[in-house]
Amino acid sequence: MIESAKPLHVIVGATSPIARAYAVDCAVAGKALLLAGRNLEELELIAADLRIRYGVKVAVERYDASLPGEGCRLVGSFASQPVAAIVAFHGIMGGRDEFVAMLQVNCAAIAELFEAVADQSAHAGSKPVLAAVSSVAGDRGRQSNYPYGASKAALDAYLSGLRNRLHPLGLRVITIKPGFVRTRLTEGKVNPRSPLLAEPAQVADDIRRAIEGSADVVYTRWFWSPIMAIIRSIPEFIFKRLRL
Ligand SMILES: NC(=O)c1ccc[n+]([C@@H]2O[C@H](COP(=O)([O-])OP(=O)(O)OC[C@H]3O[C@@H](n4cnc5c(N)ncnc54)[C@H](OP(=O)(O)O)[C@@H]3O)[C@@H](O)[C@H]2O)c1
Repeated sequence: MIESAKPLHVIVGATSPIARAYAVDCAVAGKALLLAGRNLEELELIAADLRIRYGVKVAVERYDASLPGEGCRLVGSFASQPVAAIVAFHGIMGGRDEFVAMLQVNCAAIAELFEAVADQSAHAGSKPVLAAVSSVAGDRGRQSNYPYGASKAALDAYLSGLRNRLHPLGLRVITIKPGFVRTRLTEGKVNPRSPLLAEPAQVADDIRRAIEGSADVVYTRWFWSPIMAIIRSIPEFIFKRLRL
């Protein structure tokens, strides 16, 4: 673990291309980083690159979201450090057979992590920003990916409740809702030339601005906010007939 005078920015699921772009943004700003994820070898490479290019302090920590208990262990690993922000990027997308795994990785693991951060912050008197990457898929269940959408909807409801609980204590909770982003998750599933497809750096920039600003829920890119408002407004008796 690094001992840094600067408050830590904790990036969980740090091998995601969106997380990598966000880590670069943080490093450019000279922030001290903790990268967490299940692939330590890959994390070490990312960390070494950031240290060399930007001269910042970067630590890595193993974290497997499929295993209950990992969130508490991870938070314990930086208990002695002040934390400025923690952003959870990790997520998996599967079908009906992976529903329980998605509920664990996409929702329950983040809940365990954020509850531990909230408890630790109350103890230390600190006020870190807590942000998690959800998805527009959580706004409404569609036949093409409703198990994934349901796991993200559960995350949205969890974050809303946590925000409500922590607001009086001065802690911010941010829900990030990307549409399509050019990563492994969309490879072969979304037309690579689609104008709706965002680059990881664009989404990372929106996340950085959300953390520096005051938003509670952020759609990225911005045009997903009106698109999803329309999708949510379609009456169920019509929606059930659509091929989405
Ligand atoms: N791409 C999109 O269009 C899109 C749209 C909406 C929301 N999102 C969300 O954006 C986030 C990042 O996804 P991405 O698009 O960058 O896809 P990705 O490249 O597949 O990244 C997924 C990340 O989750 C990590 N992860 C998966 N299972 C894990 C586990 N058990 N423990 C710890 N880490 C685990 C992966 O780590 P490994 O490298 O070890 O596999 C990787 O860092 C996800 O929450 C995803 O649901 C993506």
